[in-house]
Amino acid sequence: MSRVIVCGSLNMDVVLQSPRRPRPGETVLGAEVSFLPGGKGLNQAIAAARLGLPTSLFGAVGDDPFGKRLRSFLADNDVDTLGLHVVPGQASGLALIQVAESDNAITVASGANRHFSETMVSTEPHASEVWVAQFETPIEATSIVMRKAHEAGARTVLNMAPIQPYPAALLKSIDVAVLNEIELSQATDTAIAASSPISAVADACHRLRAKGVRAVVATLGPRGSVVVTAEHATEIPGARAEVVDTTGAGDCFVGAFAARLAAGTTPIEAARYANVAAACSVERLGAAPSMPTAEEVAARLARA
Ligand code: RIB
Repeated sequence: MSRVIVCGSLNMDVVLQSPRRPRPGETVLGAEVSFLPGGKGLNQAIAAARLGLPTSLFGAVGDDPFGKRLRSFLADNDVDTLGLHVVPGQASGLALIQVAESDNAITVASGANRHFSETMVSTEPHASEVWVAQFETPIEATSIVMRKAHEAGARTVLNMAPIQPYPAALLKSIDVAVLNEIELSQATDTAIAASSPISAVADACHRLRAKGVRAVVATLGPRGSVVVTAEHATEIPGARAEVVDTTGAGDCFVGAFAARLAAGTTPIEAARYANVAAACSVERLGAAPSMPTAEEVAARLARA
């Protein structure tokens, strides 16, 4: 069977749930706190592994208790952690996530993630694999890793989140770029919002495709997603969900999308499945702990 190889970030998410977020200078009492595994790389690896795909994660943690907890969470979810490096003297990545009024705001202290390097990726890519990366680890290292994967004939999926300046050559190594509407707007310098017409979203995706990436998937939250290739722009409606916490929904989409590509489906079929997986994930608190199993996604697809 094919494999999903994720290169990226790991964070301990400190999730604060409160009725509302404080204004600058204000103190709000009454929050609930949870310490949950997260980071876009870890979340995407967990999503792929819970859907049954053999999955490896390459990344960096600190030599602290959070690093140990992140590693054992991955191992408990059958993610291969041989590619996890401990950076001496560094704290593990930490994200402060404020969940309020059905939305979230995230501040990340990258810690050990800043020390991720291409030299930590000890495995040689194979054509049967799907390689996945994001923008929470150093972009130069990500570019080298994705270029090698592409040259080996592996499929490459880049989640351009959070948007960062990147070398122009990077997109030429990418088969599918996945972005939400904010990232798409920033990456293409166009005014795209959650409410923009699908034609405007598709135009922005084409603009990104013109920079060398073969397909672009825009994720639009409850509206679903749009898959744009050289031939078509395909709108895929969102699946209904009882929202508890949207944190990590984009990561669930990316992990599920990569898992379905690795299982042999087309990008459009993979996006349909990933939409449903992401809808499952928003019904639970947290990012990584909310990733669904293949059985949960199958049950929801059967109800649709
Ligand atoms: O995409 C959600 C993730 O972003 C969180 O888990 C947090 O760690 C940040 O990386």
